[in-house]
Amino acid sequence: MNGPLFAAAAPQPGPLRVLLLGATGTIGRATARALLRQGHEVVCLLRPVAGAGAGAAPNPPAELTGATLRFGDVRDPSAVARDGLRGEHFDALVSCLASRTGVPADAWAIDHAAHQHALAAAQAAGVRQMVLLSAICVQKPRLAFQQAKLAFERELVASGLTYSIVRPTAFFKSLSGQVQRVKSGKPFLVFGDGRLTACKPISDDDLGDYIAGCLTDTARQGRVLPIGGPGPAITPREQGEALFAMLGRQPRFKQVPVAMMDGIVGVLGTLGRVLPPLAAKAELARIGRYYGTESMLVWDEAAQRYDADATPSTGTQTLFEHYAQLLRGDVQTERGEHAVF
Ligand SMILES: NC(=O)c1ccc[n+]([C@@H]2O[C@H](COP(=O)([O-])OP(=O)(O)OC[C@H]3O[C@@H](n4cnc5c(N)ncnc54)[C@H](OP(=O)(O)O)[C@@H]3O)[C@@H](O)[C@H]2O)c1
Repeated sequence: MNGPLFAAAAPQPGPLRVLLLGATGTIGRATARALLRQGHEVVCLLRPVAGAGAGAAPNPPAELTGATLRFGDVRDPSAVARDGLRGEHFDALVSCLASRTGVPADAWAIDHAAHQHALAAAQAAGVRQMVLLSAICVQKPRLAFQQAKLAFERELVASGLTYSIVRPTAFFKSLSGQVQRVKSGKPFLVFGDGRLTACKPISDDDLGDYIAGCLTDTARQGRVLPIGGPGPAITPREQGEALFAMLGRQPRFKQVPVAMMDGIVGVLGTLGRVLPPLAAKAELARIGRYYGTESMLVWDEAAQRYDADATPSTGTQTLFEHYAQLLRGDVQTERGEHAVF
């Protein structure tokens, strides 16, 4: 006998019990909605709100209705075990936690160290799976927050847990900062001629669904997953042209030379060596410069170019539908980190 001819059908995964970190963020909220829609039991560990007292938050986001809310400081190495997991059974840890500033100390404290503590707590508690929201830009790391994210990605891969590392392209909020200025009659600002970069924008809900789907789709496990939204890659110039077309106006662009940004980075970098507050500003300028000149698409190392065709797509919602909703006032944009303009 060589064993059974037919493998037993894989068991259908039932609802999972999930600890979600970063649930108050843009993608954290979308992921919470998706996890709940997909029938999972969701426990969120939220940052304690100053003055609210232990275990209470004045205004947890409405999207978290249906999830269990717990409170703890993820910078405290024992918080995830004590305040989040509490010795209970969990199937998976899902993290959309990220530094809100991207400056080096915060990035290393949150994107790296807090995740390290959470992973150790999850492993000690017998949690078998982790889904991590990362970013496509870590493939070409130049910035402190990218190094911090990459360092934790490597630790997760080496941990032995079933992992999914989701590296999305640009979020809608990071590409919507100019909608109101253009609506009010101002030109659309671009770096260079507006064709230096491209991305495949992904909506919050499409990304939330994708992240939640990693729990049960084995094809998304044990992998690093670059992911964009539907449709072709678009440049900043095309974003501006679409906006003007929706408003029925002639396109008007104001070009910001990359050399000017380099000058700002250089001056702030030099001054930041003696004046610490300017060091943080220099890092923010470096982040702006990076997003003004690097595409959010899969990088082909051999060809030394970004490859839109190699960047997978998911979901149905497009940036231009989102622009139309913003112009009608149906939705409001939340200014994102990494919004260059
Ligand atoms: N913007 C883009 O276009 C883009 C593209 C690709 C990837 N990404 C990556 O996606 C990730 C998430 O983005 P997002 O826009 O959803 O982030 P976000 O809205 O800034 O949310 C960050 C989350 O982390 C939590 N957090 C931050 N610092 C904390 C701290 N010190 N203690 C406890 N919790 C803390 C926040 O909690 P509070 O609400 O309590 O602050 C929030 O829940 C980031 O890693 C980013 O690099 C972004």
